[in-house]
Parts: sequence; C-alpha cells; structure tokens
Amino acid sequence: MTEQTLVLIKPDGVARGLIGDVIARIERKGLTLAALELRQVPTEVAAAHYAEHSERPFYNDLLEFITSGPVVALVAEGERAIAAFRQLAGGTDPVEKATPGTIRGDFALETQFNIVHGSDSSESAAREIALWFPALNS
Ligand code: TYD
Ligand code: MG
Repeated sequence: MTEQTLVLIKPDGVARGLIGDVIARIERKGLTLAALELRQVPTEVAAAHYAEHSERPFYNDLLEFITSGPVVALVAEGERAIAAFRQLAGGTDPVEKATPGTIRGDFALETQFNIVHGSDSSESAAREIALWFPALNS
C-alpha cells in the first residue's frame, strides 16, 4: 500500500549536519521524496503539529525546541512509508528504545533531542501533511 509520511529533521539534526545522512537513509530504504523544504517553524504550526501532547509536562520545552532553529520538513512516499520511516527513526527514547542502526539509536542521547519526527499513523500523516504542505495533494 503506497503511503505518504511527514518527516521532520528537527533543529538538533540540522545543527549537527545530519540532513544528508537522514535523507540518504530514507532514499536507501526505497522511499521517495514528494516534498522537501528547510524552514523556520512558526509557533502556531509547532503547536498544531504537537497538539496531541498539549497536556504533557514536556510540551512547552518541545515547542521551544522545535522553534529554536530551522527544520527540514519532507514528505516521504512508498510502500508502508509510515511504518518504514518509524523503523528507520527508532524508538522515542534514543538510548532505552532506539537500537543501533536507527537514526535515533546512532545519533541521539536524550529523548528531547532525538533528531527526527515521523508520522505515527495514517490519520496523523494526513493531518500533518495537510499542516506542513497544504498544496501537496490538493
Ligand atoms: P512522541 O509523539 O511520544 O514520540 P515520537 O516522536 O517517537 O512519535 O513525542 C513527541 C516528541 O516529544 C518526542 O519525539 C520527543 C518529545 N518527548 C519528550 O521530550 N519527553 C518525553 O517524555 C516524550 C514521551 C516525548
Ligand atoms: Mg509522535
């Protein structure tokens, strides 16, 4: 089943020079790029993107972090793209959950600074792609 998923290379990934590595992993997996842009995230977009976490204790830090510098937003496309990118990313906690060989397992130490975002379901992917790239599928 061909799907699209929304990927963010977060400010830590951009600042550390990992854009090329992350995109190379996406391409090597066999996914293709349907959209790609470097951008500074407006607070309203960050808040909408992470709305599901608005009651969590880490929410304010998360918004501050995601707006702290440019991110790369992209749409990756292919068979089972949503699960495929989550596999490439690894678990949310880059030490306890992500394994070596994944993006987070290879590059991150702290949950708050875990390099990438990937949509977690088809509903999330549709919502996030409409938020970040409103013109893409219209
Ligand atoms: P979540 O959607 O649970 O993880 P994922 O990015 O794997 O889908 O959380 C969103 C982001 O919030 C997560 O990537 C990093 C941050 N976060 C924290 O800072 N502390 C936490 O305890 C959790 C669960 C997430
Ligand atoms: Mg999530």
